[in-house]
Amino acid sequence: MSKKKNKAKIKNKAKKSLKEFDKYYYYEKSVQSAENDVQFLKKTYKEIKGKEAKSLREDFCGTFKISCEWVKMDKKHTAVGVDLDPEPIEYGKKNYYPELNEEQQSRVEILTENVMATGLPKADIVDAQNFSYFLFKKREDLRAYFKNALKGLNKDGLFIVDCFGGSQCYEPNEEETEHDEFSYFWDQDKHDPVTNEALFYIHFKRKGEKKREQVFTYDWRLWSIPEIREIMEEAGFKKTHVYWEGTEKDGTGDGVFSKVTNGEECEGWVAYVAAEK
Ligand SMILES: C[S@@+](CC[C@H](N)C(=O)[O-])C[C@H]1O[C@@H](n2cnc3c(N)ncnc32)[C@H](O)[C@@H]1O
Repeated sequence: MSKKKNKAKIKNKAKKSLKEFDKYYYYEKSVQSAENDVQFLKKTYKEIKGKEAKSLREDFCGTFKISCEWVKMDKKHTAVGVDLDPEPIEYGKKNYYPELNEEQQSRVEILTENVMATGLPKADIVDAQNFSYFLFKKREDLRAYFKNALKGLNKDGLFIVDCFGGSQCYEPNEEETEHDEFSYFWDQDKHDPVTNEALFYIHFKRKGEKKREQVFTYDWRLWSIPEIREIMEEAGFKKTHVYWEGTEKDGTGDGVFSKVTNGEECEGWVAYVAAEK
């Protein structure tokens, strides 16, 4: 899913070219905005809790780019990333971790673990990004994950997840985003209205090369905002808040998320839900 990124941001990011096809490089250029994500986490914690968050646990961390940006942001920040797949973790260790100085590195810990594991480190913010928890297809499984996230929060902790939806999610469609040297394709292969399950692929095409199909695959259930909030409350969270993205004149997202009580109809939207311990 391309978060409703504005075009200037997409252009600025697509500079470097690589000889070898590096799927995480193109993924990062296409779907991640870790610098903006950590700004959002910091601002949201301050807005809801009235103080600064120090520790972050990045669940489903993949290449743990958000953890790296979090420790760069402030000397008091610490981060723990959790992912069960060693491949993206290794990528992060080779590509993002070395960009940190030694002191910053000492404030990041990466665990090759299941987010359902007991005894994961506690943090002020537990964050699950890029819709990773959509892999839980049963309500009881999602509730069990949310309960584990709640257990992982310090007193006054905040659990933050992103989510997406919109009318285009209910039928197959493929959206191409052109960058300077490559195209990114977000392909919704199918949607089942009975189960609300949907299958997505990411494809890439470098200029002058054949399209590389199904570089990433996501077999998800599309959880709605009210379902997410209800399940968070069932899991024991005290209160939930929804952050909705503003829109530029041309209809693309402006990257600014504000607390709302109602949304607006949209072909494709991305939002955050923040849940208070
Ligand atoms: C959609 S990717 C998101 C990666 C990263 N958060 C991002 O924003 O790009 C989902 C990640 O979740 C990991 N994952 C899937 N199930 C998991 C589980 N039960 N526990 C920990 N990590 C899991 C996968 O290995 C993968 O790296």
